[in-house]
Amino acid sequence: MSEEFETFKERVRDSADIVEVISNYVALKRRGRNFWGCCPFHGEKTPSFAVNPEKNMFYCFGCHTGGDVFNFIMKRENCSFTEAIKMLAGKYGIPVPEKQKTAAEIEREQKTAQVMETNAIAARFFQACLLDARYGQEALEYLRSRGITDKIISKFSIGFALNKFNALLISLGKRGFEQELLIRAGLAVIGRNGVAYDKFRNRIMIPIRDPRGRIVGFGGRTVGDGQPKYMNTSETEWFNKRFLLFGLDIAAQEIRKKRQVLVVEGYMDAISLHAAGIVNAVASMGTAFAIGQAKILRRLAEEVIFCYDSDEAGRRASVRAVSVAKEAGLRAKVAGVPKGKDPDEFVRRYGSDAFEKVLEQALEGTEFQINETILQNNVTSFAGKAEAVSNILPFLLECKNEIEVSAHIRNVAQKLTVDEGLILDEYHKASHRNGSRNGKFGMSSVVSVAATAGEQAEKLLLKIFLKYPELAVENRDEISKIGFTLEVYEMIYEDILAKSHDGPINVSKFSEGMCNDASAVLAEITVNQRDYPKKDVSKEEAGKIIADCLKQMKKTSLTREYEKHSSLAIQYERQGDKRFLEELMESQRIKNEIKKLYGN
Ligand code: UTP
Ligand code: MN
Repeated sequence: MSEEFETFKERVRDSADIVEVISNYVALKRRGRNFWGCCPFHGEKTPSFAVNPEKNMFYCFGCHTGGDVFNFIMKRENCSFTEAIKMLAGKYGIPVPEKQKTAAEIEREQKTAQVMETNAIAARFFQACLLDARYGQEALEYLRSRGITDKIISKFSIGFALNKFNALLISLGKRGFEQELLIRAGLAVIGRNGVAYDKFRNRIMIPIRDPRGRIVGFGGRTVGDGQPKYMNTSETEWFNKRFLLFGLDIAAQEIRKKRQVLVVEGYMDAISLHAAGIVNAVASMGTAFAIGQAKILRRLAEEVIFCYDSDEAGRRASVRAVSVAKEAGLRAKVAGVPKGKDPDEFVRRYGSDAFEKVLEQALEGTEFQINETILQNNVTSFAGKAEAVSNILPFLLECKNEIEVSAHIRNVAQKLTVDEGLILDEYHKASHRNGSRNGKFGMSSVVSVAATAGEQAEKLLLKIFLKYPELAVENRDEISKIGFTLEVYEMIYEDILAKSHDGPINVSKFSEGMCNDASAVLAEITVNQRDYPKKDVSKEEAGKIIADCLKQMKKTSLTREYEKHSSLAIQYERQGDKRFLEELMESQRIKNEIKKLYGN
């Protein structure tokens, strides 16, 4: 980023009054140091959404969304960081610096804008053709036979490309759109004889929009049977299916409201679901669900339900899709429509209530992955069971949450009638190999009361370090011995260390560019309900609080260790394993250490 842009960004940040900006979207009322309102990111009737004007941060105690004024605009307007800055700059009358664009960049931008404009006009032409009885009757009847009403046609701007050699070329040509432009947009192609012709002919035209609603390409379906069933705009830099989801522009509002998105495979599935009133559905357009798509959805939702065809290929695609969703930090579920049907056929035949039931019965993603793996292995033999376990391990390693993993392990143990401890061992080995932090504390530990207290202490610690970063450095050794329970805390801590020489940290600036989890944690600790510690806490007081926090964290960590060793001891004893004594002694040793900590 250029220095000029950097200065501009800081100017916007200083000028933008977070309370004023958010007030345009949410009714806020002052209570104490914060302003409160009903969260715009999840449905609620009692306010748990807080805005802190001093720190320039917001945080929702209900859905844990939080961040600075830029994050708010990005989430609310579903736009990029740069777009959010520009929007705010416009509001506060701050001139946007003309970026020193290269001639090539300017040209590319112009070309993209032209392509989108061409697409928009083409879509209008296609729609007019569909609705003109002279041309579109057969296509329209076909759509109606599939339960697609005029309302849905206009909602999705569905159209029809005539069965002519160059109808679009001629019509758009009359309006000044040159052949070259249609070719660039993928709407026309050059034939062997060097003459251009319409790429889409005699097809129902489904416009595909980017999240901002601009038409970036089309899917063209044959009317009735015929191959290939769909023809799509060829991939370009602005039509890249890995970053697009069909229907997202229309579904975004509901997705944001429900914090949940339904992903189906086909255009027609998404369209039918919308027609049936299920309006948080988008389609991945037949390609494998990609991380780029997952990240876009993560901005709007916490949970994704995949509802692919229930055939072999669809189920395999679901297993992979769940992995991708988990990687992006989405909770995933898999819903299965009964055999032989896709969501479109199902919802038309049985109605939306029946479909909602299918969604209610969706399996948690990892559980689905586990079930599928077990189905694919012959688990009657011990070798088969071992194979299944080792195929399941990667899915467990993807999970973000230890408690969740331990529940899955218990479940796998029951399903395969394999000892839970054995799977646990394998999991530990695998997570070591993986170099992941998962498994650090042993799976047998159930949530202990100490865990919550420990987490509170970790957050408090970070809050103090933001004010006195030098204390983060001073306590580095002690902290590295104890460790944080969550990776995201550790990440924040390390970033604080990196910025420790510049005095108190500006949280809003600091959280910029961090992942969603990290900026939510930062927002949570700054926009705190209980104003503790006091804003003007002295360095000396801070030191004392840090000591208390570290003590609490140590207790938590020891408690976890204790649980791990004592439950191993119990397990070994049951199995008549000699290692039982070792574990028992270790757990006693830890217990004594804990006692010492509580003792004074
Ligand atoms: P489907 O065959 O399930 O399509 O392929 P569909 O949307 O349900 O279509 P109908 O119900 O038969 O009319 C799923 C998706 O895969 C892509 C399209 O995005 C389609 O929606 N696809 C499929 C293609 O791009 N080309 C094809 O030839 C087939
Ligand atoms: Mn279909």
